[in-house]
Amino acid sequence: MQLEEAIKTRHSSRQFLPDKEVPRAVLEQALQLATYAPSNSNTQAWRLFVVRGAALTRLRTALYDHAAAPDAPPPAAATELPPALQAYRSELGALLYGELLGLARSDAAGRRAALLRNYRFFNAPVGVVACMSADLRGEAALCVGMYLQTLLLALTEAGVGSCVQIAIAGYPDVVRREVGIPADLEILCGISIGYEDEAAAINRGRIGREPVERTTVWADE
Ligand SMILES: Cc1cc2nc3c(=O)[nH]c(=O)nc-3n(C[C@H](O)[C@H](O)[C@H](O)COP(=O)(O)O)c2cc1C
Repeated sequence: MQLEEAIKTRHSSRQFLPDKEVPRAVLEQALQLATYAPSNSNTQAWRLFVVRGAALTRLRTALYDHAAAPDAPPPAAATELPPALQAYRSELGALLYGELLGLARSDAAGRRAALLRNYRFFNAPVGVVACMSADLRGEAALCVGMYLQTLLLALTEAGVGSCVQIAIAGYPDVVRREVGIPADLEILCGISIGYEDEAAAINRGRIGREPVERTTVWADE
């Protein structure tokens, strides 16, 4: 697979084949390739926890039960978007919940159930928790982001699907307890990893992008 094809075909998968394991060697190779990502002063600030098997069953059960409880606190990472960006979230919601899952706007229970699937890692056989040192400032998350995109492209090349999930960072205490993540690491996000269920309706859509002119200024003179 050429780089361009990997970049263009990578997308967020939100339903996986739960019983089709990703061989550890495939994961190890992608993790190894991702280490070539750039980082500030070569600090390589990414710290990953790869959760599988019984450990993942425990994590997704605890997270789901916590998030789905009637008195669940709102997730810590669920930041309100500034008004100028809210339309993007609406557009994504319309695609995922409306067009692909056929849920009416008024179907609050259906939409909540779909959202809560995040906490089950979308049935993926592998869940990753991405962290960095809690002593680092926000800009170090740039390095982790570069590492993660490299990882996702390496997985794409290997035919493995993925979805980055800020939702997983929404209940850090649960994740920390279940995975044994030390207090000196900040939990940035989760990633579901596995072979995509291509027959699942949720995986059939692709969200668009703004044209480059909307996001880029050329300063030549
Ligand atoms: C930092 C970050 C956090 C994200 N969090 C979530 C999430 O919690 N749940 C989810 O379903 N998708 C999540 N996504 C996936 C985005 O919705 C997705 O990348 C975006 O809509 C573009 O679609 P694509 O990845 O299919 O190209 C996240 C992506 C990033 C980069």
